[in-house]
Amino acid sequence: MGKLDNKVAVITGGNSGIGLTTAQTYINEGARVVIFGRNAQTVEQAATTLGENAIGVQGDVSNIADLERLAKDTERHFGKVDILVANAGLGVFAPIEMIDEAGYDHQFDINVKGAFFTVQKLLPILNEGASVILTGSAVQDKGVATGSLYFATKAAIRSLARTLAAELAPKGIRVNSLSPGIVRTHFAGNTNLEEDQFEGFVNMVTEQAPLARAGTTQDMANGFLFLASNDSSYMTGADLLIDGGWASV
Ligand SMILES: NC(=O)c1ccc[n+]([C@@H]2O[C@H](COP(=O)([O-])OP(=O)(O)OC[C@H]3O[C@@H](n4cnc5c(N)ncnc54)[C@H](OP(=O)(O)O)[C@@H]3O)[C@@H](O)[C@H]2O)c1
Repeated sequence: MGKLDNKVAVITGGNSGIGLTTAQTYINEGARVVIFGRNAQTVEQAATTLGENAIGVQGDVSNIADLERLAKDTERHFGKVDILVANAGLGVFAPIEMIDEAGYDHQFDINVKGAFFTVQKLLPILNEGASVILTGSAVQDKGVATGSLYFATKAAIRSLARTLAAELAPKGIRVNSLSPGIVRTHFAGNTNLEEDQFEGFVNMVTEQAPLARAGTTQDMANGFLFLASNDSSYMTGADLLIDGGWASV
């Protein structure tokens, strides 16, 4: 018996990295999963790899019509939803002088507006007892030069989890965030960072973290499984920090 038997999960950013490993982990535990991402090709490839218990929906979290279509397609295929992982995100890194309005909007539109409206548009099809998980970041309480926009979006995610936990509790819905430390994914390719700049950040974090290694996507998926399952039934409004101790020590 799996921990997620008969559950339906929607994972934005489920076509890559942390989201994709989480999708596979949920399926291994008995769930059926909808993955959502911008890149039609990788959405289709990932859905094929995940197999018959997965479908892929292409779209952009910063586009409200795409999120409405995600809700419609999900309901048509699988009915109501038990687990919603608002995970799609990327990072824009630059000194404050180099950031223009379009860059600011791009970062906040995907990471904050995207997560907010993902929850709003999927809410009508969430079951009582559903678990909503927002992907934050261990950077939410840190300050590192050039990270102003990205770090602020993740602090906003932490705030959103607290408030939505209060607001949705009467509907029997739990809302938590999960904050990864550093993980090698396609994150670097989805930012304006060069590969060696991202590696520099990885090295800085792993040197500072007591566990002295980068996290794996499976380390994160284990946390997403915990927050999705009844094992976390008395948790809401909380943040699960999985960062090798970087932000805590
Ligand atoms: N890797 C890390 O060190 C780290 C640390 C802390 C937090 N995080 C967070 O973890 C989450 C997942 O990142 P990852 O590390 O797994 O990186 P990733 O491999 O680049 O995955 C990011 C996912 O988000 C999707 N995405 C980005 N913008 C989108 C948009 N506008 N609409 C729909 N989907 C969009 C991407 O889909 P497409 O490829 O189709 O665009 C991709 O599936 C992000 O929220 C990130 O901020 C990562």
